[in-house]
Amino acid sequence: MHATDAAWLKRFPELEILIDSDTLQARVRELGEQITRDYGAHPPLLVGVLKGSLVFLADLMRAIPLPVSYDFVAISSYGAETQTTGQVRLIKDLDSPIHGRHVLVVEDIYDTGLTLSYLLGLLRQREPASLRVCTLLAKPARRQVALEIAYCGFEIPDRFVVGYGLDYGERYRNLPFIAVLQGQP
Ligand code: IMP
Ligand code: MG
Repeated sequence: MHATDAAWLKRFPELEILIDSDTLQARVRELGEQITRDYGAHPPLLVGVLKGSLVFLADLMRAIPLPVSYDFVAISSYGAETQTTGQVRLIKDLDSPIHGRHVLVVEDIYDTGLTLSYLLGLLRQREPASLRVCTLLAKPARRQVALEIAYCGFEIPDRFVVGYGLDYGERYRNLPFIAVLQGQP
């Protein structure tokens, strides 16, 4: 295990690492290379979904040596709980129009798909030149809406995960790895 990860675990003994920071960083670099090849002369606008995608987006964009821009939306679906309410709401919209632009939505996790399908529907109405999704994680077991995902970092089992942007009651977002909370289903 990465020495830094081990040091974090000493302070957070309730965590169990699912994807360590080296594995995470290597995969983010691969995704960046793939996106760079695919978009080439048409650099995308990266649209991060707050707050969970912040850490992933920050690393991913530095693995894409193209003149990309980024913007954010904020969507609420969970609150402080680990179960989805099914209610999805736009809290913060994009700063700029996306008509005619190549848009790549960057999400932390594709779980039920309710958040992403709502967001994609909203963005599609604005007629971007293209619209794709890059998600760090996907939990196939909990899928309610099937979506086409162009880029996916890791498929994970049906466990509640934290770290690298993902939270439990706003905690753990700053972990440099993905972990499961022991005692959570
Ligand atoms: P969905 O709408 O069910 O696909 O859920 C998407 C959102 O729920 C994500 O953007 C996360 O903020 C949150 N979420 C889903 N699963 C997890 C998890 O295992 N840990 C932390 N947040 C999660
Ligand atoms: Mg959350």
